[in-house]
Amino acid sequence: MNKPKINFNEISINSNNLFLKPLSKENATDLFALYNDEEVQRYTDVDIFKNLGEAQKFIAEYPKIAEKGNYLFLGIFSRATKDFLGTLRLYHIDYKHRFATIGFQLAKDYWGRGQMHESLQAFLKFVFDEMDLHRIEAQTFIENERGIKVLERLKFTREGRLRQNFLIKDKFEDSYLYSLLKTEFLEDKV
Ligand SMILES: CC(C)(COP(=O)(O)OP(=O)(O)OC[C@H]1O[C@@H](n2cnc3c(N)ncnc32)[C@H](O)[C@@H]1OP(=O)(O)O)[C@@H](O)C(=O)NCCC(=O)NCCS
Repeated sequence: MNKPKINFNEISINSNNLFLKPLSKENATDLFALYNDEEVQRYTDVDIFKNLGEAQKFIAEYPKIAEKGNYLFLGIFSRATKDFLGTLRLYHIDYKHRFATIGFQLAKDYWGRGQMHESLQAFLKFVFDEMDLHRIEAQTFIENERGIKVLERLKFTREGRLRQNFLIKDKFEDSYLYSLLKTEFLEDKV
């Protein structure tokens, strides 16, 4: 399968209450705050921006990265207030075998309201229908109960426990590997 003719820079996805789109320079402060919140990043392996300038640089350089079609990074926004809620990432994209990995983060103020569930429903519909991917993977640290709940509510299957595959703060951590197949994704039922 060839790379899809989707321009990652022009992606705009709507759900009932939210919209997903690439970040613009006005979002740098919020992005920096999200990635520097220790509670949000407790169970993730994302590279933290060391200062606001690094977040600004990432946003400025993203269009070039996106052009290659190998890394998709979207902001989650409220349709009502236009507030920035969090981010979704699609990486390890394999167009030959039609799978990819997702990563997701929500600012703490928005936890416990079903916002990530709604974002991922819309995002998964996009990756299965528009990008025509067949399998989506996600990994969570075994103690990340919120992350696990989000995936299981969306009917991801836990395929196994990966032993010590992340080196976090000088400690090797186990994670669970989850996957969802296109045929299992029933947009209205999850
Ligand atoms: C993982 C994370 C995105 C989960 O956020 P969340 O708000 O708990 O997830 P959801 O948006 O799906 O919301 C589910 C919660 O909202 C509640 N909720 C309220 N209205 C809801 C609705 N209409 N639909 C679904 N859930 C709803 C649910 O009851 C649930 O609450 P509970 O956890 O107390 O049972 C968030 O904790 C986070 O960003 N963590 C840090 C980053 C991270 O770990 N990412 C995952 C890496 S694998």
